[in-house]
Amino acid sequence: MLSPILSIILATTALAAPGIKIAGCSVANKQMDIPAGQTQLVNPTIPPSFIGLGLGVQNYTCSSAGTFTSTGAVAELVDISCVDSSRLTAVTDAASEIWKQAPKGISIQAVIKALSGVDSAFGSSIILGQHVFVTNPITGVGINPKWDFTSASLKGHADAFVVGARTGGIPAPSNPAVNIDWLMVNNIQGDLADQIFRIETRGGQPPSTCTPGTADISVKYVSQYWFFGGAFSS
Ligand SMILES: *[C@@H]1O[C@H](CO)[C@@H](O)[C@H](O)[C@H]1NC(C)=O
Repeated sequence: MLSPILSIILATTALAAPGIKIAGCSVANKQMDIPAGQTQLVNPTIPPSFIGLGLGVQNYTCSSAGTFTSTGAVAELVDISCVDSSRLTAVTDAASEIWKQAPKGISIQAVIKALSGVDSAFGSSIILGQHVFVTNPITGVGINPKWDFTSASLKGHADAFVVGARTGGIPAPSNPAVNIDWLMVNNIQGDLADQIFRIETRGGQPPSTCTPGTADISVKYVSQYWFFGGAFSS
């Protein structure tokens, strides 16, 4: 349930202009928490370069088999470098609630403003960049995830993007029917990062069946994205 204050913030700041600057705090001491007892996601031995909170949608189309297949995703990545490690999970939960309840067409800045009521670290938070899907730039076949900071926190750095290919994945440790998989993704193009992990997912899963011929759907989700290596850091 959104507090009245959050509701007012969401309602009154929908037209706020985007704010763009470089990421806030060093993440050199942050450690990514991934489940033990699995071999799909391997924690890098180097510190992360960036940690972003993705707020967006996963898109699906209904296949002739009556199941939804992914057609990509689009998300804004909010810098969470200044959030204390002990608060990362709680902040992700709160962001998921706010995002789920945000009215259609709300600006990401309004959502960030609402988040600043959850954790003071968001008071100075910025947009790191955008997450989209693009045609595979190497093979020209299929779509691959891209994280692009060139229009936001790393404006002017033409190589501040990464296109990746999934190399490992596990079902979300909690509620995997609702929450999308946790992933490990390796760089196939760009200088932003060598590896990207999608963890702490909230939402994003489609219904288990659909009627062929029905419209495409978008399912809201939130997740943490951890970036390792690359030519930049926060
Ligand atoms: C996903 O759907 C949204 C509308 O909900 C649309 O704006 C966006 O372009 C779509 N992106 C992809 C990659 O399909």
